[in-house]
Amino acid sequence: MHAHGLSKKQVLAELKKIRRRDKHYDDGKILCSMCTKPHPMAIKAYRLFLTSNLGDPGLFSGSVQLEEEVINDLATLLHGENCVGHVVSGGTEANLMALLAARNMAHVNAPEVVLPESAHFSFTKICNLLDLKPVYAGLDDSFRVDPLQVEKCAGEKTVAIVGTAGTSELGVVDPIEELSRVALEHKVWLHVDAAFGGLVIPFLADAKLNFDFALEAVESITVDPHKMGMAAIPAGGIIFRDSKALDYIKTETPYLTDQYQYTFIGTRTGAAAASTWAVFRSLGVEGFKKVVGKCMKTTRLLADGLTDAGFKLVVEPTLNIVAFRSDGGTRHLVEKLRRQGWFVSYVPRYDCIRIVVMPHVKNRQALAFLKDLVVNQKC
Ligand SMILES: Cc1ncc(COP(=O)(O)O)c(C=O)c1O
Repeated sequence: MHAHGLSKKQVLAELKKIRRRDKHYDDGKILCSMCTKPHPMAIKAYRLFLTSNLGDPGLFSGSVQLEEEVINDLATLLHGENCVGHVVSGGTEANLMALLAARNMAHVNAPEVVLPESAHFSFTKICNLLDLKPVYAGLDDSFRVDPLQVEKCAGEKTVAIVGTAGTSELGVVDPIEELSRVALEHKVWLHVDAAFGGLVIPFLADAKLNFDFALEAVESITVDPHKMGMAAIPAGGIIFRDSKALDYIKTETPYLTDQYQYTFIGTRTGAAAASTWAVFRSLGVEGFKKVVGKCMKTTRLLADGLTDAGFKLVVEPTLNIVAFRSDGGTRHLVEKLRRQGWFVSYVPRYDCIRIVVMPHVKNRQALAFLKDLVVNQKC
């Protein structure tokens, strides 16, 4: 820290200079992120609620109302009735709260959780924190978790089974209906990580994907507004089917306005709930269908263009994620593309490049990317 403060002008000039080093979604060249430029109303709402702290809800009843309405909207979208939940910092915290509830409710020695091999890495952190043993179930030919393997992995110590609706690497949706059957048989908690897919699948034109509270065993769902919900970061969502879940995750807060907290993060911004609420009210279901429809069209354009150019898709896209590889080697393309300003992810597990077609990725950028990719492949 300087001994004396700088002028407003100096501080802003320095900030703007440093900000230029960040990449910007507007360029349309960030093809590796599950976040996007927030909706303009999300930004306005965020500013309006900048000072609100949902960690001390008695002081911010307006923000509490927005959080409740967001959770209610999400629950309704996911076929839940009388659900409870919170706007949290992201998918990691949402998954943590779900497994904390499941573990505490089951109350067994040396607890285990059955995870798909494709589960998000947040579960590695969570297992560490909660002292849960991860038991990994393998995938089928379409990279969805194999329910027979899940069945084999489930045992007396299992406190939860996890399925993913929109895997981070390939965007596939696990057979949650079958996982629900296994979970019911074993009388075990089923958590669905729909951090990405939860705000895509309900808006797909012709999807017949059963993944939510319509399935009896689903006790909790992660769904993140700061991904396809176009809310400002940090906005994750955890929804529980039953309010009893909250009893297993509550912490007493002796000096605050409310007696308990139900999130891992203490002080947390009400601006997250406000920005999510603003997007939901601005777009409605029809608006979201348009956004998702556009992303899916661009996904198709990319998938077809890649195939025509001789690349191999790892799997046909279910959601707005395309993964592909090249017979001539894939990894080296990532660096070449980076030099041209394209940011894509390399996924070692499948030796592929993965592109997330978020709302900031338009058709013209998809076409420009394909052009650069083909040139790079040749040289
Ligand atoms: C399926 C899935 N779950 C959880 C997460 C973790 O979310 P966050 O980074 O918001 O904590 C991600 C992140 O991309 C994800 O794709």
